[in-house]
Parts: sequence; C-alpha cells; structure tokens
Amino acid sequence: MDKIVLAGGNPLQGRLRISGAKNAVLAILCATILLREEIVLENVPDISDVQVMSGIINSLGAATVWEEPEVLRVKPPASAAEAEAPYHMVKKLRASNLLLGPMLTRFGDVRVSLPGGCNIGVRPMDLHFKGLAGLGATLLLDHGSVRGRTDGRLTGARIYLDFPSVGATENIMMAASLAEGQTLIENVAKEPEVVDLANFLNAMGARVRGAGTDVIKIDGVTELKGGGRYAIIPDRIEAGTFMVAAAATGGDVTVENVIPLHLEPLSAKLREAGAVVREEGDSLRVSVDNPLRSIDVKTMPYPGFPTDMQSQVMALLTTVPGTSVIVENIFENRFMIADELKRMGGRIKVEGRMAVIEGVPGLYGAQVKATDLRAGAALLVAGLMAAGETEIGNAHFIDRGYHRLEEKLISLGARVWRNT
Ligand code: UD1
Repeated sequence: MDKIVLAGGNPLQGRLRISGAKNAVLAILCATILLREEIVLENVPDISDVQVMSGIINSLGAATVWEEPEVLRVKPPASAAEAEAPYHMVKKLRASNLLLGPMLTRFGDVRVSLPGGCNIGVRPMDLHFKGLAGLGATLLLDHGSVRGRTDGRLTGARIYLDFPSVGATENIMMAASLAEGQTLIENVAKEPEVVDLANFLNAMGARVRGAGTDVIKIDGVTELKGGGRYAIIPDRIEAGTFMVAAAATGGDVTVENVIPLHLEPLSAKLREAGAVVREEGDSLRVSVDNPLRSIDVKTMPYPGFPTDMQSQVMALLTTVPGTSVIVENIFENRFMIADELKRMGGRIKVEGRMAVIEGVPGLYGAQVKATDLRAGAALLVAGLMAAGETEIGNAHFIDRGYHRLEEKLISLGARVWRNT
C-alpha cells in the first residue's frame, strides 16, 4: 500500500485535531534513556518514525507499550547491556543520532550507525561531536558508525554552536543534564521542540534554563528520576500542512489543539498571500475570500519560516498568479519536489538555493513520487488542488510524519485512498 491516490478539486472544509509533534517525541523518546523510572507519554502520534524510534530504544534495553491510542508507556533501560543501535533500524531514521548524548551520559558507552532519514542534503554531525567532545566524551568514527565513550561522568563546559542546529542543541542538552557541573550552550536552536525537550527534562528533575532563547544553561544533576506523565506539544508542521492545503484548495479549515505562536511564521506568510488566518483559542482557522497573491519565502531557524513547510508552500504557490521566490537556507538539497510539481503542470526554476515559481492557472493530476517526508506532504497539497487523479508513490515517506492522514483528509471532504 505504498501509493496514495487523490481525486483533486474539492475545497477542504471542516475541523481537525492535530496530533503530537513528531520531532518533539523523537527527541523525548531518546531522553527516556536518561531516566530511572517509567514514564507515560501522552499525545504521541502513531507514525512510522515513532515506531522505528521505539524499536531502537527497545533494542537498547527499554520497553515501550501503547497503553491506549496516543499514550505510550516507556520503561527505560536499566543498564547498557546493549550499547549498539542496530543499523537496519538506525538507517531509517536520522533522529537516531539523538541517542548519542543520552547513552553517553547515562552509560558511558554508545555505538550508533550513521546516518539515515530523509534525503534532503549532506546533514553533517560536526556540531553534535564538537559539543559532546567538549563535555569530555571520546568519539571515533569507524565503518559508518560513531563509537562514543566517557571516562566517568561528563563534565560541564561552555559550548558555542556555529549554527543553531536543532539536533546538536538537543544532544548536548541531554548529555549535559547528567554531567558534572554547569554547561552553557551558546547560539542554540530555539525551535519549540527544543523547548519541549527542555521542559520534559526539567519535569524529570533536570535543571535546564533558557530553552527558547539563544543560550541554554544546564546545571548537571546525578540522576533523572522519571515517573508520572508528560504530554507532547502539538505538531506545528502537521498543522501547517493542513493550513496550506486549506488555502491551496480555497477551503475553510480549523486546526484544533495547536499552539498558534508556533505557527506564526507560517500564518504571517499565508496572510501576506491573502488568506484569512484567525486565531480562536488553541485553534487556527484558515479560509480564502479573495484570489491569493504571490509571495517570497526564506527558510530560517525558528522563529523564521520553517524548512519543513517549504515544499508544501511551493506546491501552494504553483497556482498563485505572479512570480514567487523561495530561498532555502537550511538544507541545500530540498528542492527535489520541484521536478515532481512540474510533472503536474507547475512552472518552477531552481537555481542553487533559490526556486522561482511562476503561477499557472491550475495543476493536473499525474503519477508522482515522494522523495522525502515533506516533499510527500507537498504532493498531497498539489494533488488536492489538481484536476483529476494524482497517484503519489513512496507513500511510506509520508507515513513517517502524518498520523491518521487519510482519516483526517476524508473528514475534511477530500477524496483519497491507498493503492498497492
Ligand atoms: C531537525 C528536524 C528536521 C528539521 C530541522 C531544521 C528532527 C528529528 N528533525 O533536523 O525536521 O528540518 O531540524 O529545522 O527534529 N548541521 C551542521 N552540523 C551539524 C548539525 C547540523 O552543519 O552537526 C547543519 C545541517 O546540515 C543543516 C542545518 O545545520 O544544514 C540544520 O540542521 P539541524 O537543525 O541539525 O537539523 P536536524 O536536527 O537534523
């Protein structure tokens, strides 16, 4: 069932509840390795990335079990009996690099294969290594794996990130939470998922301050207890994808259970393009009264425009009159979607990190392929707008990040099904 088929042309209408954030839960699953006792995670999306990450931590000695839908109980590993994350799992999920910090600081030993995940650029790990080495870890790269070791406890240090990498910030923050003394990480990522991880660590007894600003200060503690329950924040990218789909189809959709502030970079751009975006408590309603206008978009670290929404917005802009320009500043290889959109009638020129989109009157359905998770999301948006049927191959990429996708789309009036 690796194909999603859409019969396009229906404006999306209605309300839907947004699930928990993929990128927050992946980091928090890694952070459970730091704990002594069980923890119950709420608002966990049942997506393939979560299944893979659960499988990886289970192979390291943890035990995860779904207590009820979207509620996951995690028993952390008691010892480092298994310090090696298996390659066949790790290669599916780049976020498995977030095991390095927790495994090192808790057990002093780790081996993780590299890399995995979406094919959207080089995605080096130098900042992760620099940070963990700064805390006293020894890291060796050999045969496609990283081997990390520590001699006793890691030690707090002052670490400057050359770029505010989400993963490096998270890895170092987790490692420092059990290190001896104080760690200061400068020029950190300010993404909401980083803040959620910090909140989780603090709820477990860590002393992390400043998440959401440029500097995070961590006073290491000797152990993190665990126990209790923790609810994951809503997924701003899932919400954003439905908001863009609403605007693209000239629909009227309310996304519920969101944190509107996290979506402000997208809401602002949708408003600039002429869509109506209304905040109603913890919901956002997107509708279109007048024809949309072309816009320019530059991806930036949070609170800039998210790279994870870039492809979906490109799909939207294919039918907006005039010329729109997108500059991708985070990942150098994230325009592969342009070729697929061209197959559906889009007029897009890519020059390095810039894409120029000339609006056409409409897209038509075609056979296309997802090249990564968010490219797949963009093809969903394009297929919903297009005349006729669109068949999206490699749907497994989309399943990495969208919980109950068809059910949600159908509830909004979309015509969508799976093919083998
Ligand atoms: C996370 C998100 C991903 C999102 C990205 C940027 C998860 C699981 N994934 O990925 O969905 O698109 O943030 O918001 O949370 N870089 C280096 N050296 C490093 C690390 C990163 O040069 O050691 C570069 C990367 O190549 C990239 C940029 O920094 O150009 C941003 O990457 P980063 O913020 O680390 O993204 P991820 O944590 O991999």
